[in-house]
Amino acid sequence: MSSTTSPPPSHGTGRRDFLGLVTGGFAAIGTAAIAWSLIDSMNPAADVIAAGAPMDIDVSKIEPGQQIIIRWRGMPILFVNRTAEMLATLRNKADLARLSDPNSTVYQQPAYAKNWHRSVKPELAVLVGICTHLGCLPGYFPKPDKTQPVENWPGGYFCPCHGSKYDLAGRVYKDVPAPDNLPVPPYVFLDPKTVRVGQNPAGVSFNTGDVVQL
Ligand code: FES
Repeated sequence: MSSTTSPPPSHGTGRRDFLGLVTGGFAAIGTAAIAWSLIDSMNPAADVIAAGAPMDIDVSKIEPGQQIIIRWRGMPILFVNRTAEMLATLRNKADLARLSDPNSTVYQQPAYAKNWHRSVKPELAVLVGICTHLGCLPGYFPKPDKTQPVENWPGGYFCPCHGSKYDLAGRVYKDVPAPDNLPVPPYVFLDPKTVRVGQNPAGVSFNTGDVVQL
């Protein structure tokens, strides 16, 4: 397994290419000792998933602060059980002033995730883990740190390819290469434990492919 992230594609690289890069990103994260789990149990069959079928995920086992990653339609979908402390960072005025689009005005999420936590329920983040610069998989660094991955890290996502930063709601920082917030996929809670990725709540129309930057 490689210990480095695949080189970023050049400008104009097609979607097919950067999804290949994302696959490389999975390997890189695995060797970087970043806490995550990859759920690859396909439900329903893998060929049906590949065709874009919705996918049901049991989110009740995600520990506080933990991230899990599933593949849906070839994309890494990030689920994070955000603690109260993590949620507090999303409303911190000093942190909000450092974000490029704190109010999610760019069409990178369905209407039901256009809120301060960018999700249906504040405690559960559901994001597409594709950097909006050139498509790498951002690393999950949830805790503040004086040195890692960069100085005075407040917690969030860091893309190792060119240094883009996102907060714990996937909102991009100012003055980094990535232009937009991480996308939010369509999803709905079937019950308190189960999230269906690829299906909107009743009466809502939203497709991942419609977002501005993916
Ligand atoms: S791909 Fe360039 S910063 Fe993420």
